[in-house]
Amino acid sequence: MTGLIRPATPDNIAEAGRLLAAGRLVAFPTETVYGLGADAGDDRAVAAIFAAKNRPRFNPLIVHVADIAAADPLVEIDARARALMDRFWPGPLTLVLPRRKGAPISLLASAGLDSLAVRLPDHPVARAVIEAAARPLAAPSANASGAVSPTRADHVAQSLGAAPAMILDGGPCRVGIESTVLDLAGDAPLLLRPGGIPAESLADFLGGMPATIATMAAPRAPGLLESHYAPSLPVRLNAVRPNPGEALLAFGPAPDGATLNLSAGGDPAEAAANLFAMLRALDRPEFTGIAVMPIPAAGLGAAINDRLRRAAHPRRQTEGTGP
Ligand code: TXA
Ligand code: MG
Repeated sequence: MTGLIRPATPDNIAEAGRLLAAGRLVAFPTETVYGLGADAGDDRAVAAIFAAKNRPRFNPLIVHVADIAAADPLVEIDARARALMDRFWPGPLTLVLPRRKGAPISLLASAGLDSLAVRLPDHPVARAVIEAAARPLAAPSANASGAVSPTRADHVAQSLGAAPAMILDGGPCRVGIESTVLDLAGDAPLLLRPGGIPAESLADFLGGMPATIATMAAPRAPGLLESHYAPSLPVRLNAVRPNPGEALLAFGPAPDGATLNLSAGGDPAEAAANLFAMLRALDRPEFTGIAVMPIPAAGLGAAINDRLRRAAHPRRQTEGTGP
């Protein structure tokens, strides 16, 4: 399984580019989480992403570009979007913009919507892979749909098995939580997903804080399913101490019995970088559940709490399992 993991050397990046150009899937690191990339213009390659992740077809993908200019043929970029790109790209901000007529992107990637999500990742390996492929790449997080996102190459191998033709290893992801998704295709800016760029940082460019919707409903907000980022164990939020059998994921000064600490110093950036790897590490049969201490809501805390809420949300029952 781990045989697919390759160090991100120039040779392996060039090979990744050839695989992608030939319609194969390649997992690669970004500053947020690992992505499962495919040629965004190739219907069959994009369909293979949905199949590998078992992802609902109504949930559109983000198209990744290697530089700002590469977004021009894909989406309509007004002055406000341009200013956001100039300030935050490369970086963890995804912009949903009106899709340009004739954009060379599979309609499946945008789930048939008139809009398209674009992002320029701030990671040298991600940018080198997109350049090597010489085309925009559709890339969701490289995990099975609904599961915890991968922040290391071995997480990808655990979650997706042999679906990618190659997994490029660029070490742990610096930000650790997905990009902020800002929808500028409608009448008013809408924060579809809190993420690596805090909403507070966008406010100046938008004349105030963007509106948010707590729970996304198709078709405008197709991706934010209520249960997501979910370990196998139940997750309990705002815990003060663990119940018998539970693991405790602490934040800040930890009480007795803390199993792991997102950030002993109470630093939200450190907590975001640790979040998914620690949820995975605690998702073990020796525990009955994962209790998580409260995390302040400001700044990056909004994205962390968003992921934790979804991780804790009651799961839809799969046929044949559970009471
Ligand atoms: O940090 C990230 O964004 C990572 C890395 C790999 O770049 N990617 C990622 O992709 O998180 P994914 O597929 O797991 O999440 C994409 C989100 C979903 O919530 C999806 O519904 C939303 O973006 N999205 C994509 N295109 C959209 C569109 N046209 N309109 C509204 N939402 C869209
Ligand atoms: Mg995802």
